[in-house]
Amino acid sequence: MCRVTVIADDQHLPYGRDRDGVAVVQIRRAEVADVPQIAELCRVELTGEPDVDQIADWVQRYPAVAACAPGGTLVGFCYSNVFAPDILELDNLLVARGWRDRQVGARILCTWERHVAGRFKAVILVNSMLYPSATTKRPAVAFYLRHGYTAVLRTEASCVLTKSLPDGQS
Ligand SMILES: CC(C)(COP(=O)(O)OP(=O)(O)OC[C@H]1O[C@@H](n2cnc3c(N)ncnc32)[C@H](O)[C@@H]1OP(=O)(O)O)[C@@H](O)C(=O)NCCC(=O)NCCS
Repeated sequence: MCRVTVIADDQHLPYGRDRDGVAVVQIRRAEVADVPQIAELCRVELTGEPDVDQIADWVQRYPAVAACAPGGTLVGFCYSNVFAPDILELDNLLVARGWRDRQVGARILCTWERHVAGRFKAVILVNSMLYPSATTKRPAVAFYLRHGYTAVLRTEASCVLTKSLPDGQS
């Protein structure tokens, strides 16, 4: 069982379990120090060698989010890159297999959007069945539609989704 807790960026709580012994997954801004764990999760879940320098550059420059389980183990992340001066592209959102279907992905996405709003007017992403995966791939389009995204382009294997963001604070 796990509970998901969002902590403010200036909070530094010990990773751990709550009073009932339930694992708490903390959702926070990702930092360059997280990139080795992000890369490792990519290797395990997506296969292939990720471009670590590219990821580090994006994590440093654009909103990125990390989900950490007790002990500080990274169990999910997202990072992004500029698409147009006022539009940000969500390049990668991933939750480790053993931690899926517990709202970790939802909380990562909402936290990322909160950091993006105010700095960018809209976000864009592509979900494609053609990207490599270590396991049988499931389309994530329904996941994004549920979070207010609109499908703007579909091919047999891919779907481009967008969402306008309200002005907010990053
Ligand atoms: C898509 C993903 C990030 C969702 O993370 P998560 O922590 O499982 O998400 P949540 O628990 O918040 O929501 C789970 C819901 O998403 C659905 N879902 C959509 N796409 C999914 C996918 N590819 N794999 C697993 N669940 C998926 C689940 O069925 C579940 O639906 P339900 O709430 O109706 O039962 C995660 O499944 C994942 O990392 N998938 C592989 C990588 C991927 O497809 N990333 C998106 C790239 S654009």
